Amino acid sequence: MDIAIVTGSAGLIGAEAVRLFADRGYRVVGIDNNMREYFFGREASTAWSRAELESTVSNYQHFDVDIRDRAFVNQVFAEFNSDVRVIVHTAAQPSHDWASSQPQVDFSVNANGTLNLLEACREFCPEASFIYTSTNKVYGDNPNRLPLVELETRWDLEPSHRFAEHGIDETMSVDHTTHSLFGVSKLAADALVQEYGRYFGMKTACFRGGCLTGPGHSGTRLHGFLSYLVKCALTGDEYTINGYQGKQVRDNIHSADLVGMFWHFHQNPRCGEVYNAGGSRHSHCSMQEAISLIEELTDRRMNVSYTDHHRIGDHIWYVSDTRKFQSHYPDWNYAYDLRTTVQQIVESHALRSGKLADQSRQASARQVPASIESILENIEPAGAASCDSARS
Ligand SMILES: NC(=O)c1ccc[n+]([C@@H]2O[C@H](COP(=O)([O-])OP(=O)(O)OC[C@H]3O[C@@H](n4cnc5c(N)ncnc54)[C@H](O)[C@@H]3O)[C@@H](O)[C@H]2O)c1
Repeated sequence: MDIAIVTGSAGLIGAEAVRLFADRGYRVVGIDNNMREYFFGREASTAWSRAELESTVSNYQHFDVDIRDRAFVNQVFAEFNSDVRVIVHTAAQPSHDWASSQPQVDFSVNANGTLNLLEACREFCPEASFIYTSTNKVYGDNPNRLPLVELETRWDLEPSHRFAEHGIDETMSVDHTTHSLFGVSKLAADALVQEYGRYFGMKTACFRGGCLTGPGHSGTRLHGFLSYLVKCALTGDEYTINGYQGKQVRDNIHSADLVGMFWHFHQNPRCGEVYNAGGSRHSHCSMQEAISLIEELTDRRMNVSYTDHHRIGDHIWYVSDTRKFQSHYPDWNYAYDLRTTVQQIVESHALRSGKLADQSRQASARQVPASIESILENIEPAGAASCDSARS
């Protein structure tokens, strides 16, 4: 049977990849040691997601393995050997701020962990596609040197600039720029993934994500922008905007749309590619605009504070140009826009914390995709507080 190995399989993108490849008939082997809980604490644990995969995806097998552990990684690859057709590598330390607190751990997970996987792929299944979730932080803060104009609720690019219409493409330099230590460890991995394609002829690709999002995120203060915003909206917790008047712009791609890209790549893989992979002009917003949208969708006023301190390496305006990928894989397109994505996140958070009344829970179950339906199964059946009582 064809095998897909997914690292970080309980995370946002990993779990979406597990479901897609399992649906398409693959036996899926997941590698995830819930290190997200170590990084960000219990609220960010992905144990719930692992449990859900194990109970709802019949052709899924989980390995609680650290990708830094080369011997264990090799053992997993050796077991499935050349039956492995695709590796989707999403496991990572994903936060700028956290990286500066423990640079050795950040680098060993993001860079050395990726090297372990590339080597295992080269040794046991060199014909497989190797898909790496890179990041737009490989460009460091170079995007902040673009000519920006300040509008009422957002920064935007000077309309005459070549990136203005479609966003930033893959020609943006990765040099002479501040990346944050996270950006550097991801860039090291990105370069390795490219090199294994160019030097060894392996079918590797880096997908340089903008903000990756969706209902499966375990959002937390240091990671998971929209997911954490929604969580704060529903709990009333304070959300702190870091600098740029809250006008910084991010593009946001739904996890299912990103994993759709992976599928198309795997159908006709190329060697050593890089693709910018975000929401593009199709799905983007400023922090202020995101807060307004979430307030509208939750019917609650958010508890927002502001600090002038922006995060080092943070982008003021980032919108991905995805046309390179679309020119290589013209059958791929977005299935989700920003509003639908945020609506799904709101529903999943509310349902996960048992805050929606039975009636809306049933309505959501009819409207949302499988990933949410499986979330619904874990909701306490009785005694769930309504929105009103949860507010008081
Ligand atoms: N979420 C975003 O906005 C975003 C943006 C750009 C790039 N990315 C990249 O995309 C990838 C997936 O992001 P996500 O949002 O799904 O992350 P996530 O944190 O939700 O999932 C990552 C998973 O990897 C696991 N993991 C971490 N270290 C591990 C280790 N040493 N061994 C085994 N498992 C480990 C975690 O427990 C977690 O379940 C990451 O590589 C991230 O850097 C994310």
